[in-house]
Amino acid sequence: MKRLGILTSGGDAPGMNAAIRAVVRTAIGRGISVAGYVDGFSGYVAGQFSELDDRAVGNIIQRGGTIIGTSRCPEFLDPLVRTAAANRMRADGVDGLVVVGGDGSFRGALALQDECGVPVAGVTGTIDNDVFGTDETIGFDTAVNTALLAIDQVRDTSESTGMMFFVEVMGRTSGAIALHTAVAGGAAGVVVPEAHDEITVLIEQLRHSIERGKRSHIVVVAEGDEAGGAFGVGERVGKALDHPYRVVVLGHIQRGGRPTMRDRIVASEAGAMAVHALLAGRSGVMIGRQGGKSVEVPLTEVVSRQHPPPDLALLALARQLSG
Ligand code: F6P
Repeated sequence: MKRLGILTSGGDAPGMNAAIRAVVRTAIGRGISVAGYVDGFSGYVAGQFSELDDRAVGNIIQRGGTIIGTSRCPEFLDPLVRTAAANRMRADGVDGLVVVGGDGSFRGALALQDECGVPVAGVTGTIDNDVFGTDETIGFDTAVNTALLAIDQVRDTSESTGMMFFVEVMGRTSGAIALHTAVAGGAAGVVVPEAHDEITVLIEQLRHSIERGKRSHIVVVAEGDEAGGAFGVGERVGKALDHPYRVVVLGHIQRGGRPTMRDRIVASEAGAMAVHALLAGRSGVMIGRQGGKSVEVPLTEVVSRQHPPPDLALLALARQLSG
C-alpha cells in the first residue's frame, strides 16, 4: 500500500480531527501518503481531495468539526456511482480508504469493499453513540459535556425563577445523550424514545417536588422522542401541572466545540489502529471500544446488527436522585 484515502461522513463530531491526524501521521510514519477527500463521499465520488501531509494535520487535535468537511451523500447508495468512484480512486493511485462516520457511512464503505474490492477501515464519528460493536462513538463524550454545560447554566435560571425547563438534546433515534446528560446534570427527569411511560411518571414526580417547594426543575428530552421533542413534552407537562415552563433546544451546539480528552484519545488510538489494520491486510473492520479497549469489529456485524438500546437504568437513577 502506497497511498491511503480518508474521508469524514455524516454529521460532524468532535474528535474527527484527532482521528484524521492519527491516520495521517501513522501512515506517513510508514512511508504512505494520504489523500483527504473533501466533504465525505461527495468528494470521493467527484475525485476531489487535498494532500494531507504531516503539517496539514498540525494544530487540529483540539479543533471540533472536521478539516476535510463532511456531508450526507444519498448518491452513494447507487452501485454504479460507487463503481465509478472506486475506479477514479484507483486512477488517482489511492489503494485503501479510512471512513470516519456512523453506521450509514460504514454501509457505504462495506459496499465499496464487497463490490469493488476497495480495502476499507472504519473509525466511529458520531455524537449519537448508536453504532453496533462499540461502547462509545467518537464525539459522544464531548456532546454530553457540552449539553451539561448548558444545563448547568439553565439551572441557575430555573432556581432563580422557579420555572420548569425542558432541554432538548440531539441523538436522532437514540436516547443515549439524553440519559447521560440527565444523570450527570442532576435533572428532575428524562424523556427518551426507548422508554414509553415516563411522561406520566414525570408529571407526578414534578407535582410532588413543586409541592415540597423545590424551585429548579430540569427535564432532558431526546429529540427523537415520540411525544414531540421538548416542545411537545413541555406543553403536556406544563398544562398538566399548570406551572410556567420554558423550552431550550440545544441543537447543533452539541456537535461543535473542542473535543474532550476522552474523545481525543479514543480517536487517536482508532485512527492509528485503522491504518495498522489496512497495512496488515485486514480490510472491512471498524475500530470500536469494548470494555475500555480499542478493538477491531467486522463491518459486516456493525451494519447488520442494531446497537443495543442505552442503559435505561440511568433513567431510574436520574429519577431516584432528583430530590
Ligand atoms: O447524527 C448526528 C446528528 O447530530 C443527530 O443527533 C441529529 O439528529 C442529526 O445529526 C442532525 O442532522 P443534520 O445536521 O443533518 O440536521
